Amino acid sequence: ASKANEEVRIAGFTAVELQQVVDDAYTKYKDLDEGKNADYIPILTETPSNLFGVVIATCDGQLFTAGDIDYKFSIQSVSKPFTAALIMKQQGPEAVYEKVGVEPTGLPFNSKMALEIYDDRSVNPLVNAGAIASVSLVEASDEERRWAKVLQNLNDFSGTNLEVLDKVYKSEYDTSWSNRGIANLLYNYGRLYCDPEEALRVYTKQCSVGVSAKDLGIMGATLANGGVNPLTNKEVLPAEHVPELLAIMATAGFYDESGEWMYSAGLPAKTGVGGGIVAVVPGKFAIAAFSPRLNEAGNSIKAMKAIRQISGELGVGVY
Ligand code: DON
Repeated sequence: ASKANEEVRIAGFTAVELQQVVDDAYTKYKDLDEGKNADYIPILTETPSNLFGVVIATCDGQLFTAGDIDYKFSIQSVSKPFTAALIMKQQGPEAVYEKVGVEPTGLPFNSKMALEIYDDRSVNPLVNAGAIASVSLVEASDEERRWAKVLQNLNDFSGTNLEVLDKVYKSEYDTSWSNRGIANLLYNYGRLYCDPEEALRVYTKQCSVGVSAKDLGIMGATLANGGVNPLTNKEVLPAEHVPELLAIMATAGFYDESGEWMYSAGLPAKTGVGGGIVAVVPGKFAIAAFSPRLNEAGNSIKAMKAIRQISGELGVGVY
């Protein structure tokens, strides 16, 4: 945890207050053992289920932490809004709107049915279909460069050099029949913009990138800070596009639980089946949490509870 300085206010709170809410949330939920690790990606069953970390990362890069905040887990779907940000940066938010879509589906993250219901058949960048489409939209002349751009963008958001967890990549790619089906369907509908297997590989690699709860905190703090990474001061997303990105996170970040999440926590956020969640309090800080045990929708139970509790205690819900 950072050094406490009671005089200075950070986003309207003292350092002691921010550390206190992190500690409270950690203590309150650390022994909860509801839910279970994702198992459709076989290797995710091997992550110790009781890991739990909670982080507040502020717009000036201060960290308030508790628990397992350095453990590297796979980022999974938490990567999706950041690659959507890359498309916005490269091609403008209209490219996301026109070529991917922005409607929440109200359906699970891996839904194939959503592709059939909507006219714009990749739906939104935060479900698998839209995320695979986003990867395929990245401007790159070949697969290696496509991947390099995706990874560089995640590095820029985190302010570190992230690495693929190779075992996760292999485990997921070897069992990617559902996502392969989605990629091929999108291609068939003219809504995938590179070779389907290339898009699948790059998307799966993106999901296999290892992050800690601290990394996720800084990635979220970059969005809270108007697109400028607080550690490196690099502009990663032009400030004018941050609202569009947060809007997608607010409406679709939790798939078929997005309404319930927004109703109870009031913050744009994104979850992943690795157990990570990051929520953004615009202009103030990010709240990130990690715990591998998931509910039926594929969202981390303890991470959700911790973030919801901190949002409530601080009264920072955006509405
Ligand atoms: O494509 C998949 O199924 C995974 N790589 C990511 C899914 C995910 O994280 C859903 N989130 N809660």
